[in-house]
Amino acid sequence: MTGGTSGIGLATARRFLAEGARVFVCADDAAAVDATVASLGVGGMCCDVSRSADVDAMAAAASDWLGGVDVLVSNAGIASRSPFLDISAESFDRVVAVNLRGTFLVTQAVARGMVARGRGGVIVTMSSTNGLGGEEDYAHYNATKAGVLLLTRTMAVELGRHGIRVNALCPGYIATPLNAAIASGLGEGFVETYVRDRIPLGRAGLAEDVAGACAFLASDDAAFVTGTELVIDGGQLAVM
Ligand SMILES: NC(=O)c1ccc[n+]([C@@H]2O[C@H](COP(=O)([O-])OP(=O)(O)OC[C@H]3O[C@@H](n4cnc5c(N)ncnc54)[C@H](O)[C@@H]3O)[C@@H](O)[C@H]2O)c1
Repeated sequence: MTGGTSGIGLATARRFLAEGARVFVCADDAAAVDATVASLGVGGMCCDVSRSADVDAMAAAASDWLGGVDVLVSNAGIASRSPFLDISAESFDRVVAVNLRGTFLVTQAVARGMVARGRGGVIVTMSSTNGLGGEEDYAHYNATKAGVLLLTRTMAVELGRHGIRVNALCPGYIATPLNAAIASGLGEGFVETYVRDRIPLGRAGLAEDVAGACAFLASDDAAFVTGTELVIDGGQLAVM
């Protein structure tokens, strides 16, 4: 579980523990990793998913701790809000480095281990509804999440012969620390107005809503599901 110390990743770690799984988390914040390891009793290490040396060390540590990885949830990601005309090259590069390069590095390192072990596996990547539609002020983020979708499909094509299923999650607006930080700069009442006007179910999603979808994709109920994405958005994409 990358990014397993906060928001969707933390809720998913809790869900997998409740399902009886052994869980290993990583994040780029050492104190947060230590706190999560202590409070949940999971394995973990600090790792910046954009750095290949970090990722190789993390994949090896996770495999050792778990006795081989059955399920990878590649969840770590960052987002920032900026009009397209104002996005700096540095900001673009960092979002791509974490969200797209990070997903590539983590999935490749763990998939290599799964193939070598020969027992198949499940990979769940973290895209977004922003990978399916161009929300304004998120051009860099949108581009990375669309990239994650085609990376996911291509992995499914190439890894199916090894018994490895690969699918993406596309959450909509989920109440997490990431969104709280963005919303805090958008004025009083932003979230209430947003969910009322844009989300048919009339509420923000919970991290647990995404964790449930992830548990489904990781389970045998999804044994014939690969190369696709599951949208968890309260109906937002269905609005014309
Ligand atoms: N919150 C939403 O509405 C929403 C919607 C769609 C997709 N997503 C995606 O879900 C994922 C999790 O988002 P969240 O809202 O839970 O965010 P969050 O900020 O609450 O948690 C992000 C996690 O990723 C970790 N992380 C960030 N950069 C990292 C790096 N370089 N290396 C390793 N770990 C790193 C953080 O330490 C943290 O554990 C992201 O990929 C995000 O793009 C979120």
